[in-house]
Amino acid sequence: MPTHHRTLQPDDAPALAALLSSNRDFLAPWEPVRDESYFTVAGQEQVVADHLAHQRAGGMYCAIILDDQAQPVGRINLSLFRGPFQSATMGYWLSEHVGGRGLATAAVGEVVEVAFSTLGLHRVEAGTIPENVRSQAVLTKNGFTRFGYAPAYLHIAGRYRDHVLFQKLAPGITPSD
Ligand SMILES: CC(C)(COP(=O)(O)OP(=O)(O)OC[C@H]1O[C@@H](n2cnc3c(N)ncnc32)[C@H](O)[C@@H]1OP(=O)(O)O)[C@@H](O)C(=O)NCCC(=O)NCCS
Repeated sequence: MPTHHRTLQPDDAPALAALLSSNRDFLAPWEPVRDESYFTVAGQEQVVADHLAHQRAGGMYCAIILDDQAQPVGRINLSLFRGPFQSATMGYWLSEHVGGRGLATAAVGEVVEVAFSTLGLHRVEAGTIPENVRSQAVLTKNGFTRFGYAPAYLHIAGRYRDHVLFQKLAPGITPSD
């Protein structure tokens, strides 16, 4: 049974808006620039609705990170690519007030397990900007390995930033050559 994540629900929007508002400065260096509405309940209702619609269409797995009391403290998502790729790109954030307790590491482990079991994926990928050593530690502790370096990969905090790319293959999958 998962203990540090659960699937996203429509009524999560108020808690997410509160977490994002109180973590606005903490998250800013690691995230795309957000408009003001993103930090409101109405804005999060729209984000949640969009993500759940994408999930119903098979394109996402959307989850909440939970603390030891099962309270929402962050989000973790997979964006799915089917066909011959059978891969997901993972993204996550966690409230500063519960950082350093292993919660992100636990949630990533649980979601990767869902990816390889329930979702039947072959691979999960995540990218971090080079100085995000905390996120890199979360990935390597979960068995991800660095496989690449992508210049100007993603628009983060106002400009295209290089990313270090990590992946984990499903159990039993080995490189072909
Ligand atoms: C990155 C983030 C998810 C980490 O969450 P967390 O719950 O604090 O992570 P954990 O406690 O599971 O693990 C953090 C690890 O980083 C290590 N760490 C923390 N600060 C560090 C530093 N300055 N240098 C090296 N390692 C560091 C911790 O020691 C820990 O590893 P350990 O358990 O082996 O000691 C969280 O800080 C966050 O959401 N940050 C902002 C958004 C973000 O960066 N998202 C990811 C984008 S790729």
